Amino acid sequence: MHNEIDLNKIDLNSEPPTEEPARQYYFMAKCREWVREFERKNGRRPFAFTQTFGCQMNARDSEKLEGVLSMIGFAKADNEEADLVLYNTCTVREHANLKVYGRLGYLKTLKKKNPDMLIALCGCMMQEETVVEKIKKSYRFVDLVFGTHNLYKFAELLYHRFSSGKITIDIWKDTEKIVEELPTDRKYSFKSGVNIMFGCNNFCSYCIVPYVRGRERSREPEQIINEIRSLVESGVSEIMLLGQNVNSYGKTLKNPITFAELLLEVEKIEGLKRIRFMTSHPKDLSDELIQVMKTSKKICHQLHLPVQSGSSRILKEMNRKYTKESYLSLVHKIREAIPDISLTTDIIVGFPGETKEDFAETLDVVRKVRFDSAFTFLYSKRTGTPAATMNNQVPEQIAKERFDRLLKEVQEIASEQIQRFEGQTLEVLAEEKNEQLDGYLTGRLSHGIVVHFQGEEELIGKIIPVKLTQAKGFYYMGCKAVGD
Ligand code: 5AD
Ligand code: SF4
Repeated sequence: MHNEIDLNKIDLNSEPPTEEPARQYYFMAKCREWVREFERKNGRRPFAFTQTFGCQMNARDSEKLEGVLSMIGFAKADNEEADLVLYNTCTVREHANLKVYGRLGYLKTLKKKNPDMLIALCGCMMQEETVVEKIKKSYRFVDLVFGTHNLYKFAELLYHRFSSGKITIDIWKDTEKIVEELPTDRKYSFKSGVNIMFGCNNFCSYCIVPYVRGRERSREPEQIINEIRSLVESGVSEIMLLGQNVNSYGKTLKNPITFAELLLEVEKIEGLKRIRFMTSHPKDLSDELIQVMKTSKKICHQLHLPVQSGSSRILKEMNRKYTKESYLSLVHKIREAIPDISLTTDIIVGFPGETKEDFAETLDVVRKVRFDSAFTFLYSKRTGTPAATMNNQVPEQIAKERFDRLLKEVQEIASEQIQRFEGQTLEVLAEEKNEQLDGYLTGRLSHGIVVHFQGEEELIGKIIPVKLTQAKGFYYMGCKAVGD
């Protein structure tokens, strides 16, 4: 829809519309006047730099924010020496927060050189009251702060900052609202993330996400299908359905549908070649979904299934609602249905109360499942979560030792696992030029595994057969099988 909207046709002398997304287009047109004024004064377009921290959800949100910026008339900067710097923040682990504070220190020095520079912060970290208080007190050079629930209001908030000249802060605690049909500026022309739901209701005891992303809300299936259709029309062949827990998709809709049913509808979209999704919660992964994955021609043979811990006792403390045994039997069921599936996971080390026996259970699961890859995390205490007040926190040194042991194990297994396709010819979506190897491209198998192979840039965005000649730890070297 946004492609059809002409900002020039919006009457800026009228009152702003109360309906969304019309209201935001009105403010985009207003902001564009500001941009034009900037151009008159400076003889150039203003530059905006966006930096995304955290997960795929945030990456998708940033595409929406960049869509607004480019509609308004900002040019893209490739570093922070810009007229507007926007950080889309993450707060899932403390390290993510510290990174943002570090970067803010750097922005302060830039702003001294260019006092007209605007600094905007948004995303999960801004949903924490203590963070906003700290910004107000110690980072007074920040111009605009907003959160996850009102991201769609970016244009309106930016205009407020332009017109008031004052720091603009707008944070909502939660929302029921999903605003559709706003512009997006996609990073890739041939693949795209598609939100199917927002928020999370699981309250894993270590996790801050339910507090900063709010309650679970699913998008209407028609909206999702329409979005994918128009993405495909514009050249997209791979989509990634995004949600904190896609397996509970649709439960809160007026006319509930299951995630598996949604996938069946997505599968029907002509021209769409690959379907991925993340993240799956093991407790909600249904037999129906496994069957749909098994019979689908488009769903990729990759499943991200965070286990978090191998100890049933710790899993209970984490409020994960499955046990080591039920996780293992789920994996067994999935592998029986789709034998070549690539399984990846997330694991937390050093959760409060984790003993060496609990950790041994985690290692045991890793050895039994043999993940294709695993993201391993040191437990990070997040204020406001139940785990933060558990009184048997694991000493840092012990957690680090366990982390190193786990990482070694995970990497060894992953490098053995990856060899299973060596010598085969499989389809690869060519994604980008390889920056290290001249004349090479980098792409991905359906299994999510990276492949480097010789090829011309014109192949980018196409799915082509590639012979996997050599497995190298966590990726493949291959050669184009076309004409073989
Ligand atoms: N500490 C460490 N890791 C965490 N994760 C979420 N919260 C925490 C935390 N407090 C990890 C989980 C989740 C991934 C996205 O981040 O493994 O699956
Ligand atoms: Fe966090 Fe658990 Fe929700 Fe994932 S499912 S976002 S780990 S609370």
